Amino acid sequence: MLGEFVPRERAAAFAADGKPRSGGLLDFDPEAVGSSYNRRPFIVRHHLAEHPLLTLESLFALCRRLPEDFVKLRRGVIPGNAHFDSSYDRYRDGLSLEETLAHFEELKAYICIYNPERDPTYRPLIAGLLAEIGAAIADIDPVITWFSTYIFVSTSGAVTPYHMDREMNFLLQVRGDKEVLLWDPADEEILSPAEKDHLLSAFGAWRPTYKPSFESKAMHFDLKPGIGVHHPFIAPHRVHTLDGLSVSLAFTFRTLKSDMATKAHSFNEILRRLGMSPHPIGENEAVDHVKAVASNAVRGPIKLWQARRRVMQWPTQPST
Ligand SMILES: [Fe+2]
Repeated sequence: MLGEFVPRERAAAFAADGKPRSGGLLDFDPEAVGSSYNRRPFIVRHHLAEHPLLTLESLFALCRRLPEDFVKLRRGVIPGNAHFDSSYDRYRDGLSLEETLAHFEELKAYICIYNPERDPTYRPLIAGLLAEIGAAIADIDPVITWFSTYIFVSTSGAVTPYHMDREMNFLLQVRGDKEVLLWDPADEEILSPAEKDHLLSAFGAWRPTYKPSFESKAMHFDLKPGIGVHHPFIAPHRVHTLDGLSVSLAFTFRTLKSDMATKAHSFNEILRRLGMSPHPIGENEAVDHVKAVASNAVRGPIKLWQARRRVMQWPTQPST
């Protein structure tokens, strides 16, 4: 799994380090965090637009020194309903890294840098964001248990197709303009209880797909340098780069609460596979907690079953 788990004692230290102080990277509005965090998207102001590590020159240098697997390339202009997980393979179009960096705008390219925190130069910047986010949500959603970050470089017309991630996110615009469309994950037309169970289960990498009827339900956010938007847990989204060159940073993370929800959904999926119709997760916190504990108990046998399945399927289906 990409990203990084955060030990409990380190999470507490990070949250203490990130208490609001002058010179911070993020300006959280405590009222917006208190009323909207993980319920609905909200705007976050930040100071990353002036950061020397987020200039195009610094980012292209980072692309050149990171392992090849950490820099995903493709054409930027792709359909908004393209399959998200295969989009880098499908739309890479033979682009090489050097060609892409040398002719980025001309090629209308799109780069996603995975986990810049693995680079020693970028690590302190990402650790600072982790500390400030941990501190901002400490009273309502302690503790951050895992995080993963991504930097997107794109040109006008580029699209990140409709998808949802299995965590929360702060998408922070550093350069250029983007339009972000977000959908309410609590809307059962957008994500049914069964779809959420399957999305968050241990059974593969499936994600629910877009339907045209969703379009009128989208919440629109215009991002400019210094402006970011919070994505609640598993909120579906699609992102469009507007005029010019764009740089944005996504800080994705999980917490004890979202881990519990994930496990409870995963247990519901097992019940569904056994022919039952379990109550949706989110209706009763105590029941969800019991399901999460039960999910832990069956995780070992499921992993064993998955490993046996992979061995049995080899070599017709390569593992990912
Ligand atoms: Fe995403």
